Amino acid sequence: MYPFKLSLFFPLLLILFLSTSISSNINNLTQSNMNPHELETLYKIMESISNDQDWRRSYPNPCQQSSSWLGIECKRNTNNTYHVTRLDFGTHPNPTCKKTSTFPSLIFQLPNLESLFFVQCFTHTKTTISIQENTILQQLSIRSNPSLIGTIPPQISSLKSLQILTLSQNNLLGQIPPQIFTLNSLIHLDLSYNNLTGQIPYQIGNLNNLIGLDLSYNSLTNPIPSTIGLLKSLQKLDLSSNTLTGRIPQTIEKLQSLNFLALSNNKLSGNFPKGIHKLQALQYFLMDDNPMMFITLPDELSQLHKLQELSLSSSGYSGEIPSSYSQLMNLTTLSLQNNRLTGKIPVELSRLTHMYHLNLSRNLLDGVVPFNTSFLKRLGRNLDLSGNPGLCLMMNEGVYVGVNVCSNTITMPLKNRSCEASCGVVTSLLFLVCVFQLLFCV
Ligand SMILES: *[C@@H]1O[C@H](CO)[C@@H](O)[C@H](O)[C@H]1NC(C)=O
Ligand SMILES: *[C@@H]1O[C@H](CO)[C@@H](O)[C@H](O)[C@H]1NC(C)=O
Ligand SMILES: *[C@@H]1O[C@H](CO)[C@@H](O)[C@H](O)[C@H]1NC(C)=O
Ligand SMILES: *[C@@H]1O[C@H](CO)[C@@H](O)[C@H](O)[C@H]1NC(C)=O
Ligand SMILES: *[C@@H]1O[C@H](CO)[C@@H](O)[C@H](O)[C@H]1NC(C)=O
Ligand SMILES: *[C@@H]1O[C@H](CO)[C@@H](O)[C@H](O)[C@H]1NC(C)=O
Ligand SMILES: *[C@@H]1O[C@H](CO)[C@@H](O)[C@H](O)[C@H]1NC(C)=O
Repeated sequence: MYPFKLSLFFPLLLILFLSTSISSNINNLTQSNMNPHELETLYKIMESISNDQDWRRSYPNPCQQSSSWLGIECKRNTNNTYHVTRLDFGTHPNPTCKKTSTFPSLIFQLPNLESLFFVQCFTHTKTTISIQENTILQQLSIRSNPSLIGTIPPQISSLKSLQILTLSQNNLLGQIPPQIFTLNSLIHLDLSYNNLTGQIPYQIGNLNNLIGLDLSYNSLTNPIPSTIGLLKSLQKLDLSSNTLTGRIPQTIEKLQSLNFLALSNNKLSGNFPKGIHKLQALQYFLMDDNPMMFITLPDELSQLHKLQELSLSSSGYSGEIPSSYSQLMNLTTLSLQNNRLTGKIPVELSRLTHMYHLNLSRNLLDGVVPFNTSFLKRLGRNLDLSGNPGLCLMMNEGVYVGVNVCSNTITMPLKNRSCEASCGVVTSLLFLVCVFQLLFCV
């Protein structure tokens, strides 16, 4: 009996053993199914950038969903082979970067990498961008790296499939290499907050798929190239805080998808292009701090019906505020402070029912503030009329707008001192009576 039992037991054991070894093989299949060369490259990259883990030991199967870290993505191709497609470095919960980390050019040897992010990664050790040819990478985002220095290498043009290129908030300097504009799959290009100099290359017009262009907060000079008008799909254009000169190019009128245009804090001057009213998609037009001396506010802007924010402060504009701006029914913010605007505030502006921020301070406006109580109350502290010595408010509604109550000398040479004095002591109940007196007392 005994041997029989044993003979039955052994095959059972064998089956058990086989089944576990098969399952372990299946588990390990995924690992062996990642190209060992690619796996080795990945570990080398991880080790050169991050000390968070012993990457080899902690993640023997980095591409297996259940055992991968946050910040890595893989895809399985038809061969049942895993490939790394995305790597994210720098901010928790992604792998953080060690102080000695430098830009890993090895990264371009991951054959299927499509997206690569370095955010607050190169913060202590000075490093530069080095590019190797790659036709798979679609998104390269290197942002907020104070130790990333040097120029943008022209070789960046060998990343032929790039759709999104973000090199914002680093310490890059030098000129924008024109080669970058051969990347005609680009949809978003953001080089903002660096120290880039020189002009905006005219080749920029080649990027006809571009939707977003941000070159703000650099030291770019010269006029904006007229080829900018070739960027037919452009929705956002931010060139603010540079040293751009000359006029806004006439060709800008062709950017009919543009909904955000920021040109603030440059050295732009001269008249607005005649066709600016053709920017019918425009919702935000920010152009503060430019030397637009001796120019009046352009009437044409009143045809930009989608406009929500119009900001033309600190630019030396003269003349009157066009009453036609009251056609901008969707306007929520109008900033015209710190110019040389004269004349009266157009009463029509109070028709703008979405308005919640109006700054007309520090101009040469005069006359009576034409807003009624409900308008004044609605805007509250978001209404600033201060610094216009000739401006006065008919009645003090307890809303501070930076303007004194009208005195007889300016607008109504009707009342005299004793009349005003008698008004000064009336209670709020008798306020209307007082106003009546102010108007008609001789
Ligand atoms: C997978 O293989 C490794 C060695 O390559 C081994 O240490 C590990 O135990 C195996 N995993 C399983 C589940 O058998
Ligand atoms: C499948 O694997 C072979 C050998 O690694 C490789 O040459 C081939 O390109 C792979 N096919 C795909 C579709 O990735
Ligand atoms: C970049 O410009 C900023 C502001 O102009 C300046 O503070 C900083 O030192 C510059 N950095 C380099 C590396 O030139
Ligand atoms: C104002 O904005 C609303 C909502 O965005 C939009 O539907 C409407 O068409 C706009 N008005 C004009 C005159 O464009
Ligand atoms: C204030 O003025 C607006 C626009 O002219 C008008 O629609 C509103 O009825 C006025 N409100 C009062 C309380 O008079
Ligand atoms: C209006 O503009 C002035 C000058 O730029 C600024 O100091 C003030 O805070 C602004 N007021 C409001 C209400 O935004
Ligand atoms: C001011 O008004 C009072 C009473 O209405 C009148 O008696 C007085 O003569 C006026 N003074 C002047 C300077 O017009």
